[in-house]
Order: sequence, then structure tokens, then C-alpha cells
Amino acid sequence: MAPKCNYSLKGKKALGIFIPLIFLTLLALFIISLPRWAVIVTIILGLLALNAFLGIIFGSRIHRAKTRCTQAIAKILRDKEIETVLDLGSGAGILTIHLAKNGFQTSGVDIDEEALHQARKNAEREGVKTEFLVGDGSSLKWADNSFDAITSLNLLHETKDPQTVLAESYRVLKPGGTLVMADFRRSPAIFTIFWVGIFKFLSRKNLFRLLQEAGFEKIQIWKVNLFHHLVLGRKKK
Ligand SMILES: C[S@@+](CC[C@H](N)C(=O)[O-])C[C@H]1O[C@@H](n2cnc3c(N)ncnc32)[C@H](O)[C@@H]1O
Repeated sequence: MAPKCNYSLKGKKALGIFIPLIFLTLLALFIISLPRWAVIVTIILGLLALNAFLGIIFGSRIHRAKTRCTQAIAKILRDKEIETVLDLGSGAGILTIHLAKNGFQTSGVDIDEEALHQARKNAEREGVKTEFLVGDGSSLKWADNSFDAITSLNLLHETKDPQTVLAESYRVLKPGGTLVMADFRRSPAIFTIFWVGIFKFLSRKNLFRLLQEAGFEKIQIWKVNLFHHLVLGRKKK
């Protein structure tokens, strides 16, 4: 016998659509009836509230997505013959510490001394040996051909000059060395949180061009999760 609950489910589905529709219609009628300045204020406040709400919803998801990026970067490096890694824009050290735990000899560099202080504390707490140094990704103090790999997590959109950061990364990489960077994608999910700020995130096409201009070969850019893409490149041998 066919289960009767199918009918009641249909009813619930219809209610689930109509209740928000009625609510939104009443809200729209209310807003339209207000004076123009009040309509503008209501819309701005509504958008800010929506932004805060989405920030809360996506906040923990972004954190999980970052963790998955660190795992993906470590996996890429494990599959290659890599010992020394320079992590640019290391912040509080999430990626640097994860890579050190995976057996790489890592150095983290950041322009923010306070973030580095936190990174050193985090490394100590985790019992990990890694160095954190103050420095600017667009003017690295290391000699040419110093590292097997350069990494970064959510750095490129923060730098004023990503092109110079990529050129410097190329310079300090050993021939055949690996560049692997994760950054926010220009995606609908990211748009709901950052709105116009989304335009500081490099599009895939621009990133590809910047890597090419810096001299990288075997460039790959692909989506790793809802928020991030991974960028992979190799310095010519
Ligand atoms: C969004 S945070 C990401 C930090 C860390 N990688 C993480 O994912 O938790 C970006 C970091 O890049 C650093 N930064 C920005 N521009 C930089 C530059 N030109 N050179 C080095 N670090 C830079 C900032 O100080 C900040 O700590």
C-alpha cells in the first residue's frame, strides 16, 4: 500500500514555500510604504545584517576549508622531492606548522610582527621546530635558488603587488622548484561575505597570466573547495 505520508509531505513542502513568500511580500509592502530615506536605511541595515548572518554561517566552513587547503598543499609537496619550504604571509603559522609537522624544513615570513609572535607561540605549543621571520614577500632577503618550495595560504589577495611577490618567489626557488599557493576564489559563496571586496581576489585568468609573466611553467589552477583555488607552478630547470 502506498504510504499516506506522501500527501502530508507535499502539504508541508507547499507551506514551506508559501510562508516565506507571504512574509517577504508583507515586508516588501511595509518597506515600500516607508518614506524614501527610511527605505534606503532599511535596505542598508538589512544587507549588513545578511552579511553578518552569512559571515557566521560561512565562518566555520571557511576555517574547515583552510584546513583542507593546508592538507592539499602538504600532499602536493610530499609527492615531490622537497626538503626546504618558505611559507609567505605565514600569519599565525597554520600552514607553516602543518608543513613542519609533515617533515619539511619550513620557514615562515610575514610583514606583521604581532602575527609572527603568535606563530612562534603556536609552534611551541605544538612542539614543532620552525623559524618565523619578519619580511616582505615582495622583497625577500634570501639569495637566488634557496628553496625547494614556496607556499602561501590566503596571501595573494592581501599583497599590494602580487606580481612582485610571484617574481620574488621565482627568484628564491631552486631550478625545478615548486610554487603552491591557496587563495580565495572569486565565487558566489565568497561574494556573499565580501561583496565588492571580492574584486581584490585575483581571477583565475589574471593569476595564470601573473605566473606566466613571473616565469613559471607547468601552471595549474583548480578549485579545491567552495572558497579556495590552488595554484601550482614550477621554476624552469
Ligand atoms: C589572510 S592572512 C593569512 C595568514 C596565514 N597564511 C593563514 O592562512 O592563516 C595574510 C597574511 O599575509 C601577510 N602579508 C600581507 N602582505 C604581505 C607581504 N607583502 N609580505 C609578507 N606577508 C604579507 C599579512 O600580514 C597576513 O598575516
